[in-house]
Amino acid sequence: MDFEFSEEQIAIQATARDFAQSEIKPSAVYRDINSEFPADIVKKMGELGFMGMMVSPDYGGAGLDTISYVLAIIEISKADASCGVIMSVNNSLVCYGLEKYGTQYIKEKYLIPLTQGDKLGAFALSEPEAGSDATKQKTTATKEENCYILNGLKNWVTNGTSADYYLVMASTNKELGHHGISTFLVEKEMPGFGHGKKEDKLGIRSSDTCSLTFESVKVPAENLVWEEGKGFNFAMNTLNGGRIGIAAQAIGIAEASFEASVKYAGQRKAFGSVISNFQAIQFKLADMAVKIDAAKLLTFKAAALKDNGQKYYKEAAMAKLYASKIAVECALDAVQIHGGYGYVREYLVERYLRDAKITEIYEGTSEIQKLVISREIISNS
Ligand code: CAA
Repeated sequence: MDFEFSEEQIAIQATARDFAQSEIKPSAVYRDINSEFPADIVKKMGELGFMGMMVSPDYGGAGLDTISYVLAIIEISKADASCGVIMSVNNSLVCYGLEKYGTQYIKEKYLIPLTQGDKLGAFALSEPEAGSDATKQKTTATKEENCYILNGLKNWVTNGTSADYYLVMASTNKELGHHGISTFLVEKEMPGFGHGKKEDKLGIRSSDTCSLTFESVKVPAENLVWEEGKGFNFAMNTLNGGRIGIAAQAIGIAEASFEASVKYAGQRKAFGSVISNFQAIQFKLADMAVKIDAAKLLTFKAAALKDNGQKYYKEAAMAKLYASKIAVECALDAVQIHGGYGYVREYLVERYLRDAKITEIYEGTSEIQKLVISREIISNS
């Protein structure tokens, strides 16, 4: 077991850290208050290779491993978790799926601009009546001669109003249940495609979430990704990797909470001493440090399994479950350590708390992660 990162991984981490601290963090509060999508930052992340990190250079990607990807998302999310999720969706849910299951045509036409940050991707699985129970897709795709006609509604789509390309799960054969679901690449300009207003969210406010509508959208048959009936497997397989990205995002929020707390506790004086001298604070800092390290070990384990071509979905669910839980706990502790200052925008930690909560909800709630983990344990017992 090797706990050292390679020189390349350390260099990626340093690049991400420098970029995040100098270009993302200074405007994060403004974007949070104004719910402003970080379009310029996304463009620059593309130029740095962060939007298609694990994709082969043959398709414009950086050709890096999942460990490097995790290191980068942690740094980006430490500065602004909204940027972390934008990056995670494009990399894990869109680029990964297109590279693994797309045709050469799809890869050349759609994957290359996505990896380079020229275009942004979104992943549309959830519907009003198909959230956790994702098999219950009501959106339909009806085959006509050289195309499919899509009708339906999606919601909670990250990058919803800002994306150019959408991976949309739709039922091509209702009778086959989840084996009748297929995945389509939809361009935002296709007639009949529309989106709702941006959701006014508690946290990750500068990431852009909305519903999508499909009214007889004509999608060319060559935009079917993988095969008819493979859409649910496509969604599940890509979400496994997505959960590693969200675990990394959660770790970034937890680390930001921890670092702010250490700094504040070393400066704030009460009862004649800096508060870091008090055990009430020390115990919290120690708990935070242990939790963050444990979350990292789980996440790097899942990433290493993926990089080694081994089965990783239980481990990805474990990493996401634990990292999201401790992100909320660390952010709560950070607010408590900051006292009244933790409750105002100026000190950042209130945003960490608001941002942390979503990591327990999207790409499968904590309850869904427990289901994935326990089913795997039971099926192997
Ligand atoms: N990895 C790979 N395949 C999986 C899988 C996993 N983790 N979990 C289930 N599957 C496969 C099964 O092997 C099975 O395949 P076959 O039928 O081909 O053999 C198929 O999926 C159905 O499995 P189940 O019978 O277990 O299905 P279920 O309905 O009982 O449970 C579920 C499935 C795990 C609950 C699934 O519906 C699920 O993960 N739900 C959560 C969906 C989710 O994460 N949504 C997030 C939306 S995307 C988002 O948030 C992105 C964003 O914008 C940030």
